[in-house]
Amino acid sequence: MDWGLKNRIASILKPNNGRGVMLAVDHGYFLGPTEKLEVPKKTIAPLVKYCDSLMVTRGVVRTSVDPNFPVPIVLRVSGGSSIIGEDLSNEEITTSIKDAIRINASALAMSIFVGAKYEHNSLVNLGNLVNEAQEYGLPVLAVTAVGKELEKRDARYLSLSCRIAAEFGAHMVKTYYCENFEKVVSSCPVPVIVAGGPKIPERDALALTYNSIRAGAAGVDMGRNIWQSQYPIPMIRAVRAIIHSNYDLNQVYDLFQKLCKEYPIGNNNQRPSGNTPNQNRPQNQQSQPRPNQPKPSQKPNQQRPSQKPQPQEQPQKQKPQGQKPQSQKQPQKKPQQQKQPQPAAAQAKTQ
Ligand code: 5RP
Repeated sequence: MDWGLKNRIASILKPNNGRGVMLAVDHGYFLGPTEKLEVPKKTIAPLVKYCDSLMVTRGVVRTSVDPNFPVPIVLRVSGGSSIIGEDLSNEEITTSIKDAIRINASALAMSIFVGAKYEHNSLVNLGNLVNEAQEYGLPVLAVTAVGKELEKRDARYLSLSCRIAAEFGAHMVKTYYCENFEKVVSSCPVPVIVAGGPKIPERDALALTYNSIRAGAAGVDMGRNIWQSQYPIPMIRAVRAIIHSNYDLNQVYDLFQKLCKEYPIGNNNQRPSGNTPNQNRPQNQQSQPRPNQPKPSQKPNQQRPSQKPQPQEQPQKQKPQGQKPQSQKQPQKKPQQQKQPQPAAAQAKTQ
């Protein structure tokens, strides 16, 4: 692999563990002013120091991201359809490589729509984008989009999409978490990053992150479950603690609750009664057995250290009494399966 390509991937997936926290804020490219992302600068500014990379469009980079803060940019370069248009799968490449380089992007991201009307177009566009990006050492993240058909999110479909993306030369693939997610990861020869999807209760979003990492994901590219939370900073820090500090679900939820007390709530600086985060969970997820530690990702060996210091949580200090010490060598239990609640129609499309 070329040095530049390796170096850029290493800025997104950290070399010490091959993992990364990507903050997704590109939703406006087809959803317009998404709830809690109406003013992107306000959403991004308090969170950017807790992510390893930012997934964003060129319009939002230029208007709403501080160029003096060295966060690696994963630049969305595909688009062309909106949530009220005829077919979300009808996307083209809308941003040139030249502009991506001008922006100093660390990677390019585009959606593919396997099984959709414009499948052929999106796959050929992916092949062409990889051809061109490779010339400049720019990695490509393929986003396995499902359009409005969220029910497509099962291991059979997602394995198919992820594998096709990798076969076309994508250097990283973004997809959804699903039951039997190990199958999706093991049949995809490049790192798999998990999208958060529509907003769910915080504990469920943390479970999704935890289960994804245990199943071998290289990280998350999470948006709404961070910035649509009333507790965006505690959420991103908790997600980070799973990905980079190997917190288990109980440890991380304890951490999250503790952090919630330190940060003012959402936009209005007020706390709900009791100072506790939203603990609503679907009926079938009320009691979750305690999981084991996530296993370290088998994904690529990265060569370079992080370009900026990242806040690291200290799991030992948060450990509940009586819990086993953390160890990478513990035998792994089967990951918990995560049931996805049905999203609101307006939030239907996620990629
Ligand atoms: C939007 C995207 C998003 O980046 C992706 O869906 C991740 O965000 P979220 O966690 O909100 O689903 O590709 O088109």
